[in-house]
Amino acid sequence: MNVLLINGSPHPRGCTFTALSEIARTLTAEGVESEIFHIGNRPIRGCMACGKCKDTGLCVFTEDSVNEGIARFNAADGVVVGSPVYYAAPNGAVCAFLDRVFFLKAHPYALKPAASIVSCRRGGASAAFDRLNKYFTISQMPIVSSQYWNAVHGNTPEEVQKDLEGLQIMRTLARNMAWMLKCIEQAKGHVPLPEREASIATNFIRD
Ligand SMILES: Cc1cc2nc3c(=O)[nH]c(=O)nc-3n(C[C@H](O)[C@H](O)[C@H](O)COP(=O)(O)O)c2cc1C
Repeated sequence: MNVLLINGSPHPRGCTFTALSEIARTLTAEGVESEIFHIGNRPIRGCMACGKCKDTGLCVFTEDSVNEGIARFNAADGVVVGSPVYYAAPNGAVCAFLDRVFFLKAHPYALKPAASIVSCRRGGASAAFDRLNKYFTISQMPIVSSQYWNAVHGNTPEEVQKDLEGLQIMRTLARNMAWMLKCIEQAKGHVPLPEREASIATNFIRD
């Protein structure tokens, strides 16, 4: 079992990384592997809604980290997306990254447990957290939760280390993720997968 930990910050070893590292350590203690994947700090372009990913499973733009991200999403048993809070939202680069990772309409990540975490200096954490969770809830991904809305506070990794409640929230989240993955593993071959209907998209138009 392995969990993909996405660091959506431009800082490879900043506050978001510090929170994700606490999750990684706890997952290791629970016998679950993980890797931290940094989306990078080079430009990530937005989705242009061409729809080609529906046929190929990949994005037509190849110059950034999105297609590598798609491969890792597919390979992982569980996913945690981390972002710093910018103006009470996830930062722009991680939104551009996730818009393109998730625009594959066939729901390739369905039933993969997921969670988001955010890092902020002072405010806007729960709004950013809500925004990230929307990617999972439109994609049939069960959300793993913790004892509070998943945030750490700090402007530097050292400050995050002093946010003892924030770090505990990360550890609880990791243990809950490990437990859910183990439950899913045990259920394989015993509990049938949910029935799938063909998607209906009415765009609110009724004839
Ligand atoms: C452009 C920008 C906007 C920010 N907006 C907020 C904000 O709305 N609320 C907040 O508490 N912190 C805000 N911050 C601070 C970061 O969220 C905070 O320092 C975070 O922990 C940095 O994480 P990182 O080291 O992983 O990049 C902002 C930082 C930047 C650069």
